[in-house]
Amino acid sequence: MILPIVGYGSPVLRKLTQPIDKDYPNLSELIENMFETMYIANGVGLAAPQIDLSISLAVIDAQPFTEKYPEADGFKRVFINPEIIEMSEEKWTFEEGCLSLPELHEEVSRPCSVVVRYFDENFEQKEELLTGIRARVFQHEFDHLQGKVFVDRLSSLRRTLLKRKLNDISTGRVETSYKMKRLNTKK
Ligand code: NI
Repeated sequence: MILPIVGYGSPVLRKLTQPIDKDYPNLSELIENMFETMYIANGVGLAAPQIDLSISLAVIDAQPFTEKYPEADGFKRVFINPEIIEMSEEKWTFEEGCLSLPELHEEVSRPCSVVVRYFDENFEQKEELLTGIRARVFQHEFDHLQGKVFVDRLSSLRRTLLKRKLNDISTGRVETSYKMKRLNTKK
């Protein structure tokens, strides 16, 4: 089932998510729906807050990056209750986008590599070193689980310049090829 995606401006994107356990209702169905929603929107990652659920769960499939970034190959994962236990001091800049911020693409600086601990879809605990595009996509989704979005990582000057665009997104004045959940705010 395809779920509507929550846009920038929605309070759920600003909340620290709650960890879940393996008894979370219909978890495998939820994971399946998140992958389906992500694929139809041509995304490479989707975090639960983006479908209006404040839980610590994100799905990733970096396959579309494989041609340019070979390390993306096979990077399809479900991250439940993930933690970053180590990150490199070295950073690199990459142009990010987000399904919750349509038509916005900005250069974001983040650590080159991270070591993460998480539970997979079978609730097996894993520890994994992620580098390159793997580390990039993971950190973007991890931010969502902390109530952050990528524009928070831009300079305040850059954010000021993007103010109108961000306002358009938060008030639903943006076209998307996928379904978005509109906010019922009167501003
Ligand atoms: Ni995103």
